[in-house]
Amino acid sequence: MKQAESMITVDSLVKRYGNFTAVNGVTFQVQKGEVFGLLGPNGAGKTTTLEMLVGLRKPEEGTAFIGSFNIRKELQKVKEVIGVQLQSTTLFELLTVEEILQMYGSFYPKHLPIAELIDDMILTEKRKSRIKSLSGGQKQRLAIALALVHDPWVIFLDEPTTGLDPQARRTLWDIVLKLKKRGKTIVLTTHYMDEAHVLCDRIAIMDRGELIALDTPETLVRNLHAASAISFSVSSEVDLNEWAKVEGVTKADCKEKEVVLYSDDLQLTLTSLIQTASERQIALEDLQTRTATLEDVFIHMTGRSLREE
Ligand SMILES: Nc1ncnc2c1ncn2[C@@H]1O[C@H](COP(=O)(O)OP(=O)(O)OP(=O)(O)O)[C@@H](O)[C@H]1O
Ligand SMILES: [Mg+2]
Repeated sequence: MKQAESMITVDSLVKRYGNFTAVNGVTFQVQKGEVFGLLGPNGAGKTTTLEMLVGLRKPEEGTAFIGSFNIRKELQKVKEVIGVQLQSTTLFELLTVEEILQMYGSFYPKHLPIAELIDDMILTEKRKSRIKSLSGGQKQRLAIALALVHDPWVIFLDEPTTGLDPQARRTLWDIVLKLKKRGKTIVLTTHYMDEAHVLCDRIAIMDRGELIALDTPETLVRNLHAASAISFSVSSEVDLNEWAKVEGVTKADCKEKEVVLYSDDLQLTLTSLIQTASERQIALEDLQTRTATLEDVFIHMTGRSLREE
């Protein structure tokens, strides 16, 4: 079998809408059993990439393989081994959980036992309920159950937790980790950095149709050379260059009177900061320290926040 090690091989995929290039030459590989995240702001091209991989959109250039199957030439084979949960799924609102799963199961020559799937997705109490009466989290779990019905090798999840409350998000995280434990390969998109950090073995950061970084969450953050962020506010503006001179500072950011200093040596920088402030008689208010995150990685690489529209 071609590409024995990687379950997914993506090679220079391009998608254009008229003059606009939504995905501009994306290349990556996903190993068997890996949870792989596409992280990026709105409009980055995450859904478009995923839709090309599952055969819902045709790439203008490039190709991809799922296992040994070419998405351009062997789409039917591809569909047999993948399960897909899309960003906006319309379900048959009047069917019950059990009925829709039985219906989806009947599309395949072989399917997983429905009761087991329902149990797995924590929907046992809702099995006789109509879909329209389910909560957002329950609907997402049902969408995943539908994606799993034919026991696929690879599962694609497009923003599985967007719009869910914190508890429903955690439940979904547990489900993703459970599927990983069973050896499934999972590709998910998200714009939540905490989610990407918790779930993903590796993350591709996408921006404006391109991959701008690809690594484990830990390495992405470590490569910032700024393990810690120290934030505070001051009562009058101070030249940013002054803050950059504080010992150990690798980068200084300032929005009006709020300052963020990044450092690889928290203790050195804090000591030096307090000394500098007292020498110049500047009061540091609301002083806080935190560990750098993927959000900091994105800001560092693009100058923009992940959450900006
Ligand atoms: N059918 C289409 N016609 C024209 N442009 C499109 C079409 N579908 C998507 N786009 C554009 O392609 C770009 C990428 O969209 P895509 O849905 O892949 O982004 P995304 O990263 O999934 O964003 P989000 O986080 O909002 O889901 C966007 O600028 C979008 O407006
Ligand atoms: Mg999307």
